[in-house]
Amino acid sequence: MKVLILPDQQTAITRAADIVADTVTKQPDAVLGLATGGTMVPLYSELAQRHREAGLSFAQTTSFNLDEYIGLSPDHPCSYHHFMQETFFDHVDIDPSRTHLPKGDAPDPRIASDAYEALIAKAGGIDLQLLGIGQNGHIGFNEPTASLGSRTRVKTLTHSTRQANQRYFASFDETPKYAITTGVATILESRMCLLIATGEAKAKAVADMIEGPLTAVCPASALQLHARATIVLDEAAAGALALRDYYQTVHPEGRDSAFD
Ligand code: PGA
Repeated sequence: MKVLILPDQQTAITRAADIVADTVTKQPDAVLGLATGGTMVPLYSELAQRHREAGLSFAQTTSFNLDEYIGLSPDHPCSYHHFMQETFFDHVDIDPSRTHLPKGDAPDPRIASDAYEALIAKAGGIDLQLLGIGQNGHIGFNEPTASLGSRTRVKTLTHSTRQANQRYFASFDETPKYAITTGVATILESRMCLLIATGEAKAKAVADMIEGPLTAVCPASALQLHARATIVLDEAAAGALALRDYYQTVHPEGRDSAFD
């Protein structure tokens, strides 16, 4: 794992945006795996700004989002379809016909899950997978004990995830119980993973992911198996790492090393 520790949230987001911009510049038709959540909001805003001011183009990219709530239509204000539209797609030149999210309102979510997995394969797989991390160590909606060999499927959300997401809904009871999520194995198949975590609330999950045992109890620990996983952290999210000094020696202030 390449662990990059930046002084604060803003510099962490800038560093992550540099990695996305570099991928898209070198490979304009890259297949991007996109993520939702509060961590991603400033990242998408930064990428949109680079589009406006520096001509960063997403015109030839294809995108697949990690997950979507079951039971919400794409135009529901709390759906991830809506989040992506408002936060990113409306502000860049990405071709809407090449953006994909799981269909949370499909009549049979299991059929929709299999179709989504097949669509990713048909696109040639994911070049760069963006990831956030839950306080419980989830990636996508792969909750603790998710199979490390899992593919896109229906997952039941944990109580803690529903509590964390309740802020977007009118009440806890209205917070969805189920989601379609790409699997841990789907994520591991991407050619590069870029996980971003900011803030103290993520410190324990980050330490479990990087330094804990490889275990389904912390699905993000599966990234230990990925040959090209970059973890971008701010100081607060890096706060519980035992080997923090080492990571900072290898990548001072999150810069590439001489051998990267
Ligand atoms: P957050 O969500 O960015 O809103 O903290 C991350 C996640 O749950 O994957």
